[in-house]
Amino acid sequence: MKTITVNASKTYDVVIGNGILPEIGSRCRELSAAKTVALISDSNVAPLYAKNVEDSLTGAGFRVVSFVFPAGEQSKNADVYLQILAFLAENQLGRKDLIVALGGGVCGDMAGFAAATYLRGIDFVQVPTSLLAMVDSSVGGKTAIDLPQGKNLVGAFHQPILVLCDMALLETLPQENFLDGCGEIVKYGVLGDRNLLKLLTETKICFPREDVIARCVEMKRDVVNADEFEGGLRMLLNLGHTLGHAVEKCSHFSLSHGACVAIGLAVVTRGAVKKGYCSAEDGKAILSAISALGLPSETAIGMDDLMDSMLNDKKRTSGSITCVVPYGIGDCRRETMTLMEVRNFMEAGM
Ligand SMILES: NC(=O)c1ccc[n+]([C@@H]2O[C@H](COP(=O)([O-])OP(=O)(O)OC[C@H]3O[C@@H](n4cnc5c(N)ncnc54)[C@H](O)[C@@H]3O)[C@@H](O)[C@H]2O)c1
Ligand SMILES: [Zn+2]
Repeated sequence: MKTITVNASKTYDVVIGNGILPEIGSRCRELSAAKTVALISDSNVAPLYAKNVEDSLTGAGFRVVSFVFPAGEQSKNADVYLQILAFLAENQLGRKDLIVALGGGVCGDMAGFAAATYLRGIDFVQVPTSLLAMVDSSVGGKTAIDLPQGKNLVGAFHQPILVLCDMALLETLPQENFLDGCGEIVKYGVLGDRNLLKLLTETKICFPREDVIARCVEMKRDVVNADEFEGGLRMLLNLGHTLGHAVEKCSHFSLSHGACVAIGLAVVTRGAVKKGYCSAEDGKAILSAISALGLPSETAIGMDDLMDSMLNDKKRTSGSITCVVPYGIGDCRRETMTLMEVRNFMEAGM
């Protein structure tokens, strides 16, 4: 078992282990004087794990009320968010009470946003159940819901008081969702850990989970500690995402997020090598890790469509796009480029 402490505006532990879900009650008890816990989960995860969590919380003396929403990104919307707030109010949750988010990034983001805003903010705990949530979304306090106009357009920074990450839960995670997490893991490798990329290339999909998850959480912790409110450094976590999001949209979401991030990483890597920013050796190490995990590195979608899609990305400031460019493993830089420069750079990497 590993414990990683995040020192953001709130200090909290990320506990990573195998089979630690039954500890949720006692660990919450140590941190919270809540009478009631609202357990929020989705329709895939709740039937598998909610009872375990409820029993553990009840055993620790909490009253538990449960809210389950239909699984999937389409639920991360204002309607479901308001239903959660109404549920909290109907069940008379008070200032000192607690929300536990049991699920992937969708659940964590939405339950976290409910926690950030209900009664101007109550405590919440993340129990990530997807690999992506374990390595990325459960840590760092970004919470959000989507609008019809775009993803994550409404949200708040609100740190959890605990993240409990039980790797045993990954046993039931569908393969495609597992690969989503792998895309983010490669991203962390490129951002700062040559050994992580080497390990992924050698061990492929059988990588040692506890070590790899912990390494990613440490790296995310370092970024969040340095730039909690995304003044600059934290934007490096968008590596591979500018093009990745465009591929995701152009594929009408038929390609998974992780696959699209992998394509985005591969394109910026090849582009950076061709332009002479990144060494061929580092480029090869990045592309090898992507292919070792069985992630795609190419897309047949045309540059015109991808550019159109990128122009609608919220990270654009008029006339230019900020991309993260790998100058090497551990040396990624944000660069604001004109639309022509972006096109030119991406085309070099296609
Ligand atoms: N807050 C952040 O910093 C941050 C960072 C990255 C991504 N995100 C957000 O995260 C979301 C994506 O997260 P995700 O990929 O976890 O999506 P998700 O929550 O929809 O989970 C993916 C699928 O796997 C299922 N699932 C999850 N855990 C399972 C388990 N253990 N067993 C069986 N099924 C399981 C879910 O029901 C769902 O169908 C997006 O909305 C994205 O915007 C947030
Ligand atoms: Zn991502």
